[in-house]
Amino acid sequence: MPTELQSKKTCQLILALDIEDKGEGLALLERIGEQLEWVKIGLQMFTRYGPDYVRQVAALGKRIFLDLKLHDIPNTVAKAVESVGVLPIQMLTIHTCGGKEMMEWAIQAQQKANPELQLLGVTVLTSMDTDSLRLLGITESPAERVARLASLAKEAGMSGLVCSSHEVELLKQNFGDQFKLVTPGVRPAGSDAGDQKRIMTPSKAAEAGSDFIVVGRPIYQAEDPAAVIRAINTDLGE
Ligand code: C5P
Repeated sequence: MPTELQSKKTCQLILALDIEDKGEGLALLERIGEQLEWVKIGLQMFTRYGPDYVRQVAALGKRIFLDLKLHDIPNTVAKAVESVGVLPIQMLTIHTCGGKEMMEWAIQAQQKANPELQLLGVTVLTSMDTDSLRLLGITESPAERVARLASLAKEAGMSGLVCSSHEVELLKQNFGDQFKLVTPGVRPAGSDAGDQKRIMTPSKAAEAGSDFIVVGRPIYQAEDPAAVIRAINTDLGE
């Protein structure tokens, strides 16, 4: 069992760079400098600026989590993984509800295109609750569904999952260290929750077992983003 301090130290910060103006985003990364290693590029920015933007962020020395949440028939997802697999990215998301075969094909494509790339499975979006699952004909609770999809991801050979900070403990209990866990919905103590409903502080998320936390607005909307990052890294035990 790692001590609390050791497990805290293994958790790293990822900045969700959801800034619409790419020039502003890149300038922010330059201002923040080396204390930030990881940047998340989401669907919004990728559909607007494409692979060149990924290369520009990587050229600033950042490691990249490309959050595209791919979900289609196995062949199409595999081809998309091959396409983005040649980019300088270290993590990529796919939807686990695409099924076991889709995940297996995605893993094969990843191994061919970029063996270092970590494929992460998205289970239940945090925008979905019991009622919205019912409307899809799904009678399981979100927690039951997360456990089922995680189990399928394990069978398919996935090595990481994106999950809310409140699902980390459940996944740790059920699957031990099987998955790298990446957790959004994290807020430094005292910062605005925004539209995030069930939040945790960086240190609490790390103690629960998150390997990476994703934080966006509390950093890029701050007057001094570098200072917020310093505070988060301190909270994570660095
Ligand atoms: O600004 P904020 O810290 O809320 O940003 C969190 C990031 O994580 C956003 O890019 C958001 O889309 C993403 N995310 C999330 N909840 C999920 C999955 C992804 O907040 N369940």
